[in-house]
Amino acid sequence: MERTLVLLKPDCVERRLIGRIISRLEDKGLSIVAMKMLWIDSELAKKHYAEHVQKPFYSGLEKFITAAPVVAMVVEGVEAIRIVRDMLGPTNGRVAPPGTIRGDFSSSRQMNLVHASDGPEAAAREIALYFRHDEIFSYTPTLAPWFRVEGE
Ligand code: CMP
Repeated sequence: MERTLVLLKPDCVERRLIGRIISRLEDKGLSIVAMKMLWIDSELAKKHYAEHVQKPFYSGLEKFITAAPVVAMVVEGVEAIRIVRDMLGPTNGRVAPPGTIRGDFSSSRQMNLVHASDGPEAAAREIALYFRHDEIFSYTPTLAPWFRVEGE
C-alpha cells in the first residue's frame, strides 16, 4: 500500500473541476485518506517546489500556485504513486494524451491542474508539508474486495 500527495491546483479550483478530478481517482479504486482546502503562501510554495526554486520559471510558478486556494489530499492504494502520475499524464497538458487528466482538461505546461508526488521520498516529504499524522485516516473500504484480489 502506498500514499501519495495530490494537490488540486488553483486552476482546478477556479475552473470548478474539483469534483470531476476526485471522481476519477475514486473511480480507479484509490482511497482518499486525508483532504483539506488551503491557500498556499510564498513560504510553503518554496518548500513544496524546493527543487524548482532556482529555475527561471519559478517566480511565475509561485505566482500561480499562490493565486487561489488549492485542495490537498493524501491518496492511498497499491502502487498509488505511479498510478496517479500515469492518470495525470505528462507535465504539459498540450502533449498529455487524451484519456489522461491533463490530456483531457489542460492545454498548458504551468496550469496543469493537478500535482502528484513523483516517488516514495517525495510523497513522504510532501505529505508531511500538508498534513499532521492525526489528519490522515486509515480505513479499509467495504468495497475493497470488489476492486482487487487480496494479495494481488
Ligand atoms: P508539477 O507537477 O506541480 O511540478 C512542478 C510544476 O512546475 C509543474 O507541475 C508545472 O506546473 C510547473 N512547470 C514545470 N516546468 C515548467 C516550465 N518549463 N515552465 C513553467 N512551469 C513549469
